[in-house]
Amino acid sequence: MTGNQDPHKFPIGSAIKPEALEGNPYEVYRQLRQSEPVSFIAAQQIYFVTRYDFCKQILADAENFRVGYERSTVHDIFGDHMMSVDGDKARRMKNPHRGQFMRQTIINELEARIAANADWLIDGFISEGTDDIRQKFASRLPILTMLDVFGLPSTDENIFRNWYDNFEHALANTGWDEEIRRAGKRSVVQFHNHMQAAIDRARAQNAPPSLITKLLGDAPEKRLSDKEIRHNMLIIMFGGISTVEALILNAIYGLSTHPDIFDQVRADHSLIPAVIEETVRWKGPVQSAHRYVHNETEIGGITLPQGAIVSCVLASANHDESYFDSPADFNIDRDNRSHIAFASGPHICLGLHLARTQGRIALERLLTRLDGFHMDEQNSSKPVGSEFHQPEKLQAVWSPVL
Ligand code: HEM
Repeated sequence: MTGNQDPHKFPIGSAIKPEALEGNPYEVYRQLRQSEPVSFIAAQQIYFVTRYDFCKQILADAENFRVGYERSTVHDIFGDHMMSVDGDKARRMKNPHRGQFMRQTIINELEARIAANADWLIDGFISEGTDDIRQKFASRLPILTMLDVFGLPSTDENIFRNWYDNFEHALANTGWDEEIRRAGKRSVVQFHNHMQAAIDRARAQNAPPSLITKLLGDAPEKRLSDKEIRHNMLIIMFGGISTVEALILNAIYGLSTHPDIFDQVRADHSLIPAVIEETVRWKGPVQSAHRYVHNETEIGGITLPQGAIVSCVLASANHDESYFDSPADFNIDRDNRSHIAFASGPHICLGLHLARTQGRIALERLLTRLDGFHMDEQNSSKPVGSEFHQPEKLQAVWSPVL
């Protein structure tokens, strides 16, 4: 790498302590955006790019900025899938999935199931009048949705949870601890065995429709092998759980800390899609997207050396004051909706409509069923984190139905 890492060149990036990013990272992002929009963060040994236009530029440039690289824990644990390969290989894997994740397909085939799952979860705590909404609702709904996407029974919820937690641990294992890595890989093997059985069942005549039956029914020239299907199911499952949990919790947090907006939304549920859109911009569930510098490239006057890792800080781009008016405000009437919370370019989130639909239905069902529903601020925490960003605990209160 080049002399870019000279601390004099990046005074803010050199001084950032990991703790500053673990809490509320938005203040750090603001300083970087203003003074060092392309910075080397010594504590993490990666470059942070914090301005909207620079992030868009990198995410669009798949020639110079790649997702596939040796030091990627995502690739080490999950192998080849749409998010760990580039170019034609990535398109070949992503394209067959697109139809099933289109907005209308989700509305037609999944919306009613998501609402039924949300109601089933609410039935479990409606009489309490107060409960931990993260544990009882937000962390569970996305798993149930994912099982419906794959055509698996809801009784698989606990094994999915267990695998998910092991995967999350292994993906955050940038220190390459062998024990954590082995546990992650063990869960991957179990996931593959489980999914191969599901693929075999989906091959049977009259199997109920699911993502798997759709993929198996593709024309031979674009049909993915069983192995490719399993690998992509792994990243779809992994991409669709904590992200949606965070979206639901951050939306409840945003509304509860803005009572005037909350009153408006309670009176008119057609405002919920605007709440969801503003939530992902305001408190992004996924704070960044990482790329590997394939060819040395200059961004904002800084040379990014071949081999470096760059974090496009989506959450910062979405608070870029040169792009969004009063970006720190939670404003559901905002005209500019072109945030990049789901990234942009070839690796834009496959599940963005599924995420929006789940967020919308979650709020609709909670507000419809639980009278006076809001966050109990005393017993909840603020959103934190620079990977996933969400409250660690969200206690809610409502008038109990006896
Ligand atoms: C609010 C919820 C969500 C957010 C904020 C989110 C965000 C993102 C972001 C930022 C990326 C790009 C990562 C990168 O370029 O490095 C991504 C990719 C992806 N997401 Fe999501 N996601 C959400 C929900 C979902 C759901 C529900 C699914 C399930 C289908 C999903 C599946 C994926 C997949 C498969 C990719 C890889 C796409 C590719 O590489 O072409 N995500 N997501």
